[in-house]
Amino acid sequence: MLHRLEEQSPDALLALIKMHAADDRPDKVDLGVGVYRTGQGDTPVFRSIKAAEQQLVDEQDSKSYLGPEGDMGFVNALMPYIFGEDATMGGRIAGMQTPGGTGAVRLALALAQKAGLKKLHMGTPSWPNHAQIINDIALDLETFDHANPDGTANVEAALSAIRGAGPDEAILLHGCCHNPSGIDYTAEDWEKLGDAIAETGIFPVIDTAYHGLGNGLDEDVTGLRSVLAKVPEAFIAYSCDKNFGMYRDRVGAFYILADGGETLDKAFTNANALARASWSMPPDHGAAAVRLILRDSKLTAMWTDELDQMRERMRQVRAALADAGTAGSVDLTPLGRQNGLFSTLPVSKDQVKELREKHGIYMAGSGRINIAGLTTNNIDKFVDALADVTGSA
Ligand SMILES: Cc1ncc(COP(=O)(O)O)c(C=O)c1O
Repeated sequence: MLHRLEEQSPDALLALIKMHAADDRPDKVDLGVGVYRTGQGDTPVFRSIKAAEQQLVDEQDSKSYLGPEGDMGFVNALMPYIFGEDATMGGRIAGMQTPGGTGAVRLALALAQKAGLKKLHMGTPSWPNHAQIINDIALDLETFDHANPDGTANVEAALSAIRGAGPDEAILLHGCCHNPSGIDYTAEDWEKLGDAIAETGIFPVIDTAYHGLGNGLDEDVTGLRSVLAKVPEAFIAYSCDKNFGMYRDRVGAFYILADGGETLDKAFTNANALARASWSMPPDHGAAAVRLILRDSKLTAMWTDELDQMRERMRQVRAALADAGTAGSVDLTPLGRQNGLFSTLPVSKDQVKELREKHGIYMAGSGRINIAGLTTNNIDKFVDALADVTGSA
């Protein structure tokens, strides 16, 4: 049978990792891989996670199965951070643990499809795996432009997608720190989006993978909360892999907002059944560590402090890039207003190649850069190289 399969191209970012590893120039710069890096270029395990893991080793007395919903202590402990003081919005939210944010996105879209979803609207560019998941479950996708050329969000495009949507359609939105553009909707935009979503009845799916890495834990969910306050139903996909540095431990959660009682229960049991048929149960370790952090005020303070430092560092890099003004034909000032780990530069594939080959600077072919790959040691080199390959304005 297997000869019938068509060759799939390797993941472009993984190929980039290999190329970077094989480059022996000591001053090479990796802006490709989507993980946070310190000013020293490391991606360390959080101190709060180390402490929680130690506690797990000392105290965990069983590794027996949990259920498809995973560690509900973890799922519940996260909720006030996402949804606010009334963490269940009056009993209208139920959640479950998933293998990373990817598992949550997949579960959200599969459940929406099971409930009769016909078409999904999504701003592009987007995280490439969104399109892969949509394609894999054979959902009909309609795209709109996420951003304007001046580096602001194109809220009009999203609003017109929402207003033009028919019944049984959904819209996928990035909660904060848009990947790959760094361009988020403003609080006013979110209000407008929420109103339009409530008016048309399109189903919102909000993917929040970088909570706390943009402007702060509360600030980064203002948009999400303003939409949820206006709509009867929604799905939220959440990742702890970036804001707890747990990437390979695959820590995520999926939340359902529904109008209480029977509908919420039915949706939850269906999510449960889909999870059981897909991965049976999510991996426990990372979620258990996050639960211990969120239930212990000292560990929580340690975690928020670590998160603050990451966010502050990325803000400083963004400010330095914005201060540089222009590099060749690239205006870097919008990067100062953008959020999170990523921004996308208006560079061609040839310019990306030249940056790599001539200057040892590695970035995705789309021009996406990982802000955290830049440090005080390499930022000047980066700006100069960008000026060199893009020429004068
Ligand atoms: C927008 C977006 N959603 C979801 C995810 C999934 O994250 P995880 O590693 O937890 O699966 C990512 C990760 O890069 C992302 O950028």
